[in-house]
Amino acid sequence: MKILIAGRKGGSGKSTITMNLSVALAHDGLDVIIIDADRQSSSASWALERSTCQPDAPQVHCVEKHNNIASTIEDLDSRYELVLIDPAGRDSEEMRSAMVVSDVLLIPLRPSQLDLDTIPELLKIVQQSKIINPNLKVCAVLSLCPTNPVINEINESKEFLIEFPEIKLLDTIICDRKIYRDCVSDGLGVVESTLSSESIRKAKKEILDLKSEVLG
Ligand SMILES: Nc1ncnc2c1ncn2[C@@H]1O[C@H](COP(=O)(O)OP(=O)(O)OP(=O)(O)O)[C@@H](O)[C@H]1O
Ligand SMILES: [Mg+2]
Repeated sequence: MKILIAGRKGGSGKSTITMNLSVALAHDGLDVIIIDADRQSSSASWALERSTCQPDAPQVHCVEKHNNIASTIEDLDSRYELVLIDPAGRDSEEMRSAMVVSDVLLIPLRPSQLDLDTIPELLKIVQQSKIINPNLKVCAVLSLCPTNPVINEINESKEFLIEFPEIKLLDTIICDRKIYRDCVSDGLGVVESTLSSESIRKAKKEILDLKSEVLG
């Protein structure tokens, strides 16, 4: 299965979601590889940290590949159970070439108008990809959401996204939690954190729920 985690907005949590999903899947015993297709190398740096600092943790493979990555995705799909693709947060050759061969496009979106405004242009690219890849499933997840329930941005974003029936908005919401940043620095996924707090428990549930929704 090939899952492209992408969008036209930078900093929406794509790489963080990629890393955390990969770890959750690896703990299910699945053979997972990330293709880091962003020259910032966020996922690749994290994977290197993981392989050196967490030698006993379930392995997550990672390769870096740029430009047209379609044939690399197809090749890795024949050798791994899950291929997660992490391109840059903009329109790119990497994102477009991945879209024509992926099974799922997962779009992380911050609940902010500037993020949501990138949807119409992204959907034009999706529509072009679907000419070649009509079975592409397109879903979105709200990411970096405020934990303060008084802030109404989540509901406002949900209402905005109803206007785009081509996108399945997932029920899972990924909140802005420090544990996500802390785990990245240690080469971990939040599901592996040995710390205990309400926020960490919720972060673990967010990732497990996301995994179930995306794979289900
Ligand atoms: N759920 C979260 N809670 C807290 N911090 C987060 C969360 N998701 C991402 N971050 C932080 O927000 C920043 C951007 O996240 P990330 O690099 O994953 O986004 P991105 O979409 O991959 O960015 P880019 O478009 O630059 O590739 C990073 O500093 C990351 O640690
Ligand atoms: Mg990234």
